[in-house]
Amino acid sequence: MIEVNFVEHDGRRHRVLARGTVTLMEVAVRHGMPGILAECGGSCACATCHVVIDPASAAAVGGPNEVEDVILDLVDRRPGSRLSCQIKLRDGMTGMVVHLPNPNG
Ligand code: FES
Repeated sequence: MIEVNFVEHDGRRHRVLARGTVTLMEVAVRHGMPGILAECGGSCACATCHVVIDPASAAAVGGPNEVEDVILDLVDRRPGSRLSCQIKLRDGMTGMVVHLPNPNG
């Protein structure tokens, strides 16, 4: 089991447990995390699965690949910005902290 801690823009936290080969986007959608629309279904094309990885979790998660890096320019990009559909969960990521966008813009 991999523990993921989602933090909403207003500070509300949601601790969820994931298992199997899943992406962070799939976990967020499954648990109804606000602001994660995932309109392209995980094809790295829409940026509506944007999250910001907490600095404490950044090393375990890593950075974007070249294509993701281009798509991230579509959003209000910040240090730690990632497309959650491009993050396959691994055991080493357990306990990760993920900041969600403000669903109201
Ligand atoms: S779901 Fe569209 S870019 Fe991630």
